[in-house]
Amino acid sequence: RKKLNIGLFGFGCVGFGLYEVLDKTPGLKANIKNICVKDKNKAREIGAENFTFDKNDILNDDDINVVVELIDDADAAFEIVSAALKKGKAVVSANKKMVAEHFTELLELQREYNVPLLYEAACCASMPIIRNLEEYYDNDLLESIEGIVNGSTNYILTKTFAENLSYEEALKQAQDKGFAESNPILDTGGFDAKYKLLILLAHSFGYIANPTDIFNIGIDNIGGLELKYAREKGLKIKLVAQAFKGANGNLSAFVIPKFVGNEDRLFTVDDVFNGIITKTSFADTHFFVGRGAGAHPTASAVLSDISALSYDYRYEYKKIYQQEDLVLSNQVSLKV
Ligand code: HSE
Repeated sequence: RKKLNIGLFGFGCVGFGLYEVLDKTPGLKANIKNICVKDKNKAREIGAENFTFDKNDILNDDDINVVVELIDDADAAFEIVSAALKKGKAVVSANKKMVAEHFTELLELQREYNVPLLYEAACCASMPIIRNLEEYYDNDLLESIEGIVNGSTNYILTKTFAENLSYEEALKQAQDKGFAESNPILDTGGFDAKYKLLILLAHSFGYIANPTDIFNIGIDNIGGLELKYAREKGLKIKLVAQAFKGANGNLSAFVIPKFVGNEDRLFTVDDVFNGIITKTSFADTHFFVGRGAGAHPTASAVLSDISALSYDYRYEYKKIYQQEDLVLSNQVSLKV
């Protein structure tokens, strides 16, 4: 196994989470050599000698062979990630917005510079869904993928439904627990779920879509009436991302809130948990569940990617390179 010297960008909720998780994983030959942060005045959990404010201190350090990008701003993240890949450094990122918005460019950079980019934490945090899609399913086997892929909205929906919390209070709790994006509209408007669906689409069906291609409705318009209806009928409301191949062979993909009954596995996925159901020709269905946000669960996926780099793991993107021309139809099927 390779010795990994990490240059870390960002020391927020997940960055500090990674620091703690690495500290508790002595078997892994990986150490954080330098941490680049933006805010010079912010009080931090560890000493100032660990930090730099100049990204070149990491990018130009030949001793650093892995860049871990855990910052909030997707545009700045793309600059850092592309610069690192061009320098031949392997990259781990948790930034779904960045990955979804720049999928094709990131694919090209990996190919051109022959370096891996891993981002398991960008989709459903702790749940190892990308690795499973990459390695287990063949393109012709997978018929549909659907699930709850945003922890904050599931937390809000669970709390408003079961504990009668107001929407505002539930959102505040999701923010205080470090689940929500710094701009929570990304969560509540279904955009974060859409970025994750784009990543899932690429790894499940080999289809690269633009964020503007995919229709999303969030949970911000759900009110007392919908909650009352759900309670009366024994249903729950879940924000569901789904993609499936229709009878015509076209692909449909969208994010919408749905009423879900107790015969549906997603009914059992509450709180900050995420759940994904895949349907395949031969295996029938699989159901994945795991914590969809939070410092340590997200850091666990980052840790898994770092560990995978030590044995030169990379995404093969076979489905993207092998797929026949799939057409994304804008058809939305609203099934209750
Ligand atoms: N804001 C995201 C969520 C964080 O709530 O799911 C994890 O991607």
